Amino acid sequence: MERKIINVNGVSRDLVTDPESTLVSVLRDQLHLTGTKVGCGEGQCGACNVLMEGKLVRSCVTKMSKVPEGAHITTIEGIGTPGNPHPIQLSWVLHGAAQCGFCTPGFVVSTKVLLDQNLDPTREDVRDWFQKNRNVCRCTGYKPIVDAVMDAAKVIQGKKTASDLEYKIPPDRKIWNTAYPRPSAIYKATGTWDFGADVALKMPPETLRLALVQAKVSHAKINSIDTSEAEKMPGVFKVITHKDVKGKNRINRVLTFPGYKGQAEVRPIICDEKVFQYGDVMAIVAADTEEQAKAAAEKVKVNLEELPAYMSAPEAMAPDAMEIHPGIPNVFYERIIKKGSDVKPIFDKAAYVVEDEFYVGRQPHLHLEPDCGVAYLKNGKLYIHSKSIALNFHRAMLAEGIGVKMDDLVLIQSNTGSTFGYKVSTTCEQYLGVAATVTGRPVSLVYDMHQNISYTPKRSPFFVKLRLAADKNGKLLAMEHDYSIDHGSYDELGDLLCQRGVQFIGAGYDIPSIRGKGRAVSTNHSWGAAFRAFGAPQSEFASETLMDMLAEKMGMDPLELRYKNVYRPGGTGLPSSQQPEVFTLPDLIDMLRPKYQEALKRAKQNSNANKKCGVGISLAMYGAQVDGPDASSAACELNPDGGVTIYDTREDYGQGADMGALGTAHEALHPLGLPPEKIRRVGNDTEKCPDSSFAAGSRSQIMTGNAIRLACQALLKEMTKADGSFRTYDEMVKEGKELKKIATYTASSQGIDENGQGKFMDNFMYGLNMAEVTGDTKTGKTTVDKMTLNTDIGVINNKLVVDGQNYGGLAQGIGLALTRTTRTSRNTRSSQALESPTSRTFRTTSNCTTWKPRDAWVRSGHRGSGNCLWPAPMRL
Ligand code: FES
Ligand code: FES
Repeated sequence: MERKIINVNGVSRDLVTDPESTLVSVLRDQLHLTGTKVGCGEGQCGACNVLMEGKLVRSCVTKMSKVPEGAHITTIEGIGTPGNPHPIQLSWVLHGAAQCGFCTPGFVVSTKVLLDQNLDPTREDVRDWFQKNRNVCRCTGYKPIVDAVMDAAKVIQGKKTASDLEYKIPPDRKIWNTAYPRPSAIYKATGTWDFGADVALKMPPETLRLALVQAKVSHAKINSIDTSEAEKMPGVFKVITHKDVKGKNRINRVLTFPGYKGQAEVRPIICDEKVFQYGDVMAIVAADTEEQAKAAAEKVKVNLEELPAYMSAPEAMAPDAMEIHPGIPNVFYERIIKKGSDVKPIFDKAAYVVEDEFYVGRQPHLHLEPDCGVAYLKNGKLYIHSKSIALNFHRAMLAEGIGVKMDDLVLIQSNTGSTFGYKVSTTCEQYLGVAATVTGRPVSLVYDMHQNISYTPKRSPFFVKLRLAADKNGKLLAMEHDYSIDHGSYDELGDLLCQRGVQFIGAGYDIPSIRGKGRAVSTNHSWGAAFRAFGAPQSEFASETLMDMLAEKMGMDPLELRYKNVYRPGGTGLPSSQQPEVFTLPDLIDMLRPKYQEALKRAKQNSNANKKCGVGISLAMYGAQVDGPDASSAACELNPDGGVTIYDTREDYGQGADMGALGTAHEALHPLGLPPEKIRRVGNDTEKCPDSSFAAGSRSQIMTGNAIRLACQALLKEMTKADGSFRTYDEMVKEGKELKKIATYTASSQGIDENGQGKFMDNFMYGLNMAEVTGDTKTGKTTVDKMTLNTDIGVINNKLVVDGQNYGGLAQGIGLALTRTTRTSRNTRSSQALESPTSRTFRTTSNCTTWKPRDAWVRSGHRGSGNCLWPAPMRL
């Protein structure tokens, strides 16, 4: 330890620090300046950026020994505050550049240094700066960030005023369908938005810190666990094994579809008999500090007998493969589809037949905020705060296993640094719950980036064999498929995912006859989870690629082949035979056609011996709810000052639930003439809010948005007097009127039958992607020069939020396409790219999204704020 005086945000700080500790730990742990975030912790993501002597430094890899005595440090807190934001922060708000906001402080600090050095950067300068300084954002696709920097520079140059960066409410006082900034934006941009690790840091002193004892093998029998040495380590309060768990020590498989071949409880909380994948938890250490807990975890001795590890679906399906979960077949779920007539005679006679095999690989979500949470007991109840985006679902999954009654388990969502769907699964909640109940003390657990990547669930790989038959004019006649899903170690959501194959392979096209079969398979890889457009990218990659092959075989333009076959009235509808709720795809193609023709010309002009340019088209379609019956509830309460409070569990992980709730309520309550700031929200607390079910499947705006609308309308009705005017709060109380209304919105869909037929969702999103790509003929390096997306997602609640989802989804989709997809016969993904992904670069261009006229398809369900399609690992 040594004394060190440094100047932080203009204040002299007299500190005693360990020279080996990092600057970020001093800022966060000692000074509680939690605006500086820790993502990777290894100098790779820029979340921890601060200024030291005017230079940008990554504080997670800056040792205190390298911080000079008297050094001037500026953190995000020193740049601006919610009451007095810097133009960079204002611009971030106006452009929707903070989605989850976890990367935002690092970007804002980085931008400050850029603009201090270059007040008139080009867009390329901005991108190059962030690339050079390793600022990573997983949510935005970067375009809103670059927009924000360009406008901030104009204000600093005096070409614009700060007031130009402020949202102006339209004369009709409506914020619906505008670019009103989300309520959380200013806090995210100023580093005052506390994420889970910040909450953990601010817990009371008696809080125990947890460390996990995790397996380093993928499949093993546990012979014994010896905790004696660990228990003697400094600061250790308790080493918890499966024997200590008060409940069943199993996670309930709540969502199960008919035909599932397993049991309700497969996944252990703390492994007792077997390890099923790398990272499985065999013990939990609770100690006074995180360092002590981690040191003791190293001393837990586990005797394992390694078993064969099945790392792909074909391996686990081999006849001699052992059952990974004894008593449950590795192929734990199968699905068939039968639409129209038998396909064999059709394929025998068809003018054109194409077929191939496709693979979309396992995809990590790579959210920047590591998984984390806290738990504590209060009045006999267990409270768990985490990144959960399925709060009530997780209560049902966890209560019995932990050993508490459902009514005594309260889940609360922390401010969440993105999940992209992985938090539909439980991750750290069960360890927190068990540790709090066993120790009786508050506990916290924060994963490091290695745990975050290796022990959170992933998008499951699909192996798809597919064939299509068409007549001589290119009209599709039949489709046949067979697919296998590697769902990893735990089968939760695997049956739902398997349904997505029959629902979305061939989606978008009128195919009169379909036969197919899919199966979900347990392996010893990371367990499968929801991820943007759960199951649709894997399914549609196969059918879209085969459509291109069909076009090539026929000598027909791929766009026109699609135009010929997309849904139209009078057709046979989706693979499930359900009719789409709108027939939008022909119009989307008509809108794209002129741009497509121009892109083809560009590609021809720009190609030469060293580079080949091309244009790719793909159709995208995904639903906006959970398959089958689905419902969501919300409440609206009148406040004494005439404002209202909305209650819902529409979990937010950067997709804009706060804005979704505000925009919807403001629109529904428009007759009251409330300003937006008088609409408050209590969200994501199962003790205080009605059950809105999970924030996944792009369902939030459709399902919970409509529940909010109904609750607001019910309150309006209660407030309405005979003459059409509205009662005040005092009048409501005096007349004994209900001040709080709860409403439930229910979808009409019922799900698919044993042949994969039926109405499984009420609403869908439709899109058409166009990629302009250059390939280096010598190196094989592929660059995506431009993406154009035409999309119909219905009426938009908030443009910033929807734009953000589109840009972020596009960027993630480019990563998916470049690094995770294979067409077997042509091997479209080169092995070089697999081994050396850094050889790939891409840029999404500005103005890449083309919007459909917003009122073209006004329907009863308001959409927007939902997830866009297509994810993948992303790098600048
Ligand atoms: S660079 Fe420091 S947390 Fe990632
Ligand atoms: S907003 Fe950048 S990581 Fe979420």
